[in-house]
Amino acid sequence: MEILVFETAGKASAFAAEKFIEQISQKPNSLLGMATGGTVVSLYQKIIEAYQQKRVSFASARTVNLDEYVGLSPDNAQSYAYYMYSKLFDHIDLPKENIFLLDGLGVVDSELKRFNEFLLQNPIDLQLLGIGTNGHIGFNEPSSQFQLGPHLVDLAEETIKSNSRFFKPGETMPTQAISMGIRDIMLAGKVLLLAFGKAKADAICKMVNSTTVDPMLPVSVLNLRRNVTIVLDKELAQAAGL
Ligand code: F6R
Repeated sequence: MEILVFETAGKASAFAAEKFIEQISQKPNSLLGMATGGTVVSLYQKIIEAYQQKRVSFASARTVNLDEYVGLSPDNAQSYAYYMYSKLFDHIDLPKENIFLLDGLGVVDSELKRFNEFLLQNPIDLQLLGIGTNGHIGFNEPSSQFQLGPHLVDLAEETIKSNSRFFKPGETMPTQAISMGIRDIMLAGKVLLLAFGKAKADAICKMVNSTTVDPMLPVSVLNLRRNVTIVLDKELAQAAGL
């Protein structure tokens, strides 16, 4: 495990963008595992800038996302499908047919099956992760056991509280999601986790110092990997005592 601390979240995001560019230059048809949420917005902006500067092309790349809310159609502005198009896909040359996204309005069992089959047939080369304040990765919430593959999740209270910041008054935040499982994340060739700000310090501190793998702190499973890069800003690192 490699832990890198940058002066600002912006500099950390620029570093993460270079990791994506490096991955695509080494293997143009890489399968990239994508995340959503506030943390990775600036990374996606920097990838778009690199594309506009003709430093990278996604013409042969493929993507798959970690998760999706259940109950939101892909054209709902709060869905993760919409997020990916508006924040990244609409601005780069990634072919639409190379994008794997879940349909939050689809039949859950069918979506889980489609997701599982895709992941078993398509190994992820580089998986991007954020982290919840409760240590979730993807939407693998703290639990007594890990789910191996794609599964339906009842979002944790803490996640609902935290993510409700993205929903406007009058919009209801879904309480369920479909998420990749821990096996899916662990089988990725490389993992790049981004975490910024004091709110994530506790989860990162516990993960870095943990001597066991605890499904109640899902991110702790990353300790079993060699190829994982944790990218932090100084604010988080200081708060975590790193
Ligand atoms: C999103 C995802 C989540 C987020 C995490 C952090 O696809 O899988 O694990 O990465 O909840 O979210 P932010 O960045 O909004 O704090």
